[in-house]
Amino acid sequence: MCGIVGYVGPLDAVQVILDGLKRMEYRGYDSAGIAVEVDGTITVAKRAGKLGRLSEQLEREPLPASHHGIGHTRWATHGGPTDTNAHPHVSEDGRVALVHNGIIENFAALRAALEERGVHFVSQTDTEAAAQLLAIELAETDDLTTAMQRLAKQLDGAFTLVAIDAHNPGEVVAARRDSPLVVGVGEGENFLASDVGAFIDHTREAIALGQNQVVTITRDSVRVTDYDGAPVEASHYHIDWSAEAAEKSGYDWFMRKEIFEQPRAVADTLLGRFDTAGRLTLDEVRISEDELRAINKIVVVACGTAYYAGMVAKYAIEHWTRTPVEVELASEFRYRDPVIDSRTLCVTISQSGETMDTLQAIRYASAQGAKIIAICNTNGATIPRESDAVIYTHAGPEIGVASTKAFLSQVVAAYLLGLYLAQVRGTMFGEEIKTVVDELAATPDKIQQVLDQANRVYELASEMVNVEDFIFLGRHVGVPVALEGALKLKEIAYLHAEGFAAGELKHGPIAIIDSTTPVFVVVPPRGRDHLHDKVISNIQEVRARGAQTVVLAERGDELAATFADWLIELPSVPTLLQPLVATVPLQLFACELATLLGRDVDQPRNLAKSVTVE
Ligand code: AGP
Repeated sequence: MCGIVGYVGPLDAVQVILDGLKRMEYRGYDSAGIAVEVDGTITVAKRAGKLGRLSEQLEREPLPASHHGIGHTRWATHGGPTDTNAHPHVSEDGRVALVHNGIIENFAALRAALEERGVHFVSQTDTEAAAQLLAIELAETDDLTTAMQRLAKQLDGAFTLVAIDAHNPGEVVAARRDSPLVVGVGEGENFLASDVGAFIDHTREAIALGQNQVVTITRDSVRVTDYDGAPVEASHYHIDWSAEAAEKSGYDWFMRKEIFEQPRAVADTLLGRFDTAGRLTLDEVRISEDELRAINKIVVVACGTAYYAGMVAKYAIEHWTRTPVEVELASEFRYRDPVIDSRTLCVTISQSGETMDTLQAIRYASAQGAKIIAICNTNGATIPRESDAVIYTHAGPEIGVASTKAFLSQVVAAYLLGLYLAQVRGTMFGEEIKTVVDELAATPDKIQQVLDQANRVYELASEMVNVEDFIFLGRHVGVPVALEGALKLKEIAYLHAEGFAAGELKHGPIAIIDSTTPVFVVVPPRGRDHLHDKVISNIQEVRARGAQTVVLAERGDELAATFADWLIELPSVPTLLQPLVATVPLQLFACELATLLGRDVDQPRNLAKSVTVE
């Protein structure tokens, strides 16, 4: 996610902002910039790349000394990581500089309307549309706070906006919706930031801002209103975190923080997926609809957790498009001499977009004539750059080596791809697609319900702190969930864990079941054919051999509950969407057990966040 700093006070604004941005580097970014105001003129320095490159530029061409300004580290969503796309963005009339964190869902329509009015855009970002529109509002109101209130009401999506006005040097104004912003309250100075880490070296007094609020800071005042300008009482609090803990928002691990960020990650991945005609759209499509209609086979290639997201994709895409889908480990794909041609669509899934096994696999598929669609979390990475179309997951940077929020976002993106293909190929009616999208839109709240029972999972982990072998079972889309649950334990707790299709038990694995091996079972929602009953039978089989059962089942599934030594209740979701809720307890379990075992959860031994070697 992006990092934002705003400052007004007696200190050198550039230094305060730069230090604050450095404190937020952990958030991940691919460009950075600062804007300050002096004598009615806004000056900006911004560069693609890390803060070091911005600092070099500031060494060469220092910004004028100022006591108020804004700064930004950008995690690219709309438009690649370039100098031009970096924030802050300045309005055409030079009066306003603005930085933004989030996704403005209706930016395309806003931009088109502004271009109709003769506004010229220089970047590919959604943010620039907000900057230009803010300047128009400011020209009418001549008050940045009122202009920001009016702007915020015109935006759809999630955003934190922070701006300065060249004609009004004493203040910084911000607005937020579904995106973080906190006020740092100093002595004769005030701060705005994405998180407290940015100003914790200056003050530990903070103000939490609520939804749909606008805040105006000067050296000596903090004023909070709603979007209609009505004053709002904001809650003050004292920060007692260390600076290091602040980077993790108070969590012990980035992984745990990222597990709890999943409702937001899923919601952001769903944002902005419809055009003005209500049809699903992808991010960057360089494949014609006719080419997509001519496809007669889909091959999904990925590694590790991303591969398991691909397994979920298979069930959804085949069901919705009636097109055969093969799911392949990228490291195996090109060595099996696969049958690939111009009617093959290769779908690649990668959080980093740099995994060498996956990159080599798509190069091979492309050389055989296949079209490539990438599902990726990193804008501008090698894999999306070498693909014919991209669906960016908007999970924000994932710092923990173990993939969590990226996985759920990949699954959501795979569903969106399946629905998009069904739309293009006409295998689903529009209202059928809309029904699934509405079900997806309801999943962030359901994921939150699972997170709200985290302590129950933590109790289970403390009960099993001496267990060394674990089995995970599932059926249908529960199989990749079982495999992912096993992988999480392997990679961060260094424990032996295996995932199986529950139907496979009787073909061999049941021989290893005994009272020493707890068996986690993902039970499908009731109603889909005989899936549910067959899994109940599998649970009885393992219990008959003395296994302790940890049953993940739909709330109200009394039958499943009777066979559970430990029951983890899941919110009701359609069968195909169950991975979005069933995976979360397994992530929490692995994170807690690894913590109890004293592992380095964020940087587990022998592993890297991105495996850029074959
Ligand atoms: C998952 O927890 C691991 N970090 C690993 O399996 C990862 O999913 C795999 O290396 C693929 O990485 P990518 O998504 O960046 O391509």
